[in-house]
Parts: sequence; C-alpha cells; structure tokens
Amino acid sequence: MSESKINPEKVVFGAGAKTAEEVNTLINKSAQEGITQAEVDDIYKQWAKTYDQDTLLNSYSSTKPLAAARVLAEYIEDKSAPVLDLAAGTGIVGVELKELGFTNIDALDASQAMLDQATEKNVYKRLICDYMGPNTLDIKDNTYSGAVATGCFGEGHAKQDCFLEIIRVIKPGGTLVFQITNAKVSSTCLIGFDDTLNTHEDNNLWTLIKKELVSSSVGTGDYLRFVYRIK
Ligand SMILES: C[S@@+](CC[C@H](N)C(=O)[O-])C[C@H]1O[C@@H](n2cnc3c(N)ncnc32)[C@H](O)[C@@H]1O
Repeated sequence: MSESKINPEKVVFGAGAKTAEEVNTLINKSAQEGITQAEVDDIYKQWAKTYDQDTLLNSYSSTKPLAAARVLAEYIEDKSAPVLDLAAGTGIVGVELKELGFTNIDALDASQAMLDQATEKNVYKRLICDYMGPNTLDIKDNTYSGAVATGCFGEGHAKQDCFLEIIRVIKPGGTLVFQITNAKVSSTCLIGFDDTLNTHEDNNLWTLIKKELVSSSVGTGDYLRFVYRIK
C-alpha cells in the first residue's frame, strides 16, 4: 500500500455532509491525488449511511448513475438476462436497472458498508464484496449478459487493470458500459488507460460500440461513457 499524507480520520464524511457544495467537496476528497484504496475504503465506510441523501443534494445520484443504467438497458433487450452492477455502492444503479425492467441483477463493490445499504434496496440477487482489479473474482466465466460501472475509476479506486477480469465474466456478445470523469483519463493514476482499452480491442477481446463525452456540471464534471461488446 502506498504512503499518503491524507489522514482519513480527519476526512469528515457522513452526517456532516449537508449542502451541495459540501457534497462536491466530499466527492473530490474521495478522489484526491495520492489517496490510497485503503483510505477510499475508509471514506465509504464512514459515508455509506448518508451517501444517498448526500449525493441527492448535488444531483449526483439523480444523474450520472441513472444515465449509465439507461444506456445498458438500450443494449440488452432481454431484461431477465443476468447483469452485474460493478462498484454498485449503495445500489443507485441497481434500483434504476430494476425500474428499467431488469430482474436478474448482481452487485459487486469493495465496500461492505456500501453493499449493506444496497442490500436494503432489495434489487440484487447476489452481492459480492471484492475489488475490481487484477484479482480473480468469485464469478464463473461468461456469467453476465451485461455489466455497468460508474463513479469508480481514479485515485484510490478501480484502474484499467480490472478489465480482463470483467471481460472474463461477461458472455461473448455481452455489453459493458462504463463511465469515467473526463479529467481523470489523463491523470497520473490512470496513465495507460486508453492504451489498455486499445490493446484489448487489438487482442480481439472486445469491440468499441460507442465512446461519448457527456457534459455535466455535477460532482467531478464532464465524463466519458464507453460501450463495449465483448467477443
Ligand atoms: C462514488 S461511489 C459510486 C457508486 C455507484 N456506482 C453509483 O454511481 O452510485 C464509488 C464506489 O466504488 C467503490 N469502489 C472503489 N474502488 C473500488 C474497487 N477497486 N473495486 C470495486 N469497488 C470500488 C466504492 O466502495 C464505492 O462504493
């Protein structure tokens, strides 16, 4: 684990977050340069119980996660097909997937505290507490028809080294939708992000269906959305 100057004890999340401005500050803090995955885990542990109400204040939870779910729904006709909500957090994407008709949704997240909140939404069949990374997930090959990931790439969060494992658990022909803050793609922590995406395409593991820049004034701002078809 790399050294960090940030003392998570001094990052006040949870009950303290009450204005839209404070929520934006919290979102930025959770992604600040040099933060480690362990510090990020601690932040979400503290934040989980008030995350939904806090992120409603700055319109985060009513915009970016819902958009990701809606895009996945455009590509998967059979809503009984199994889908995976990656870095599901408190289940905001899962609730929207259910609204859109999906009936077979699993969740994966690094934070058990966030997953505990997600459990209460009653939209997921299986909740898996694990990291998106190079680690092998406890999921069989070719399990899902689709997967979605949003709000989870960057400092102290998931990196491009997670994609091979995600590709493994999606069926050939399945769809992966992910969103990443535009400014983060060129940040130090994600050096090689684009190269990794291209290498997987060159290696015939997936095909890029769509890449779009979505403008947003919420949280960390404009974001890129990628849609890949798994081969
Ligand atoms: C900003 S929240 C977004 C949650 C959800 N996707 C949404 O948009 O509502 C980020 C989530 O990513 C999770 N996370 C961070 N790093 C992760 C990793 N390496 N693997 C899996 N989950 C991770 C955190 O625990 C947290 O629940």
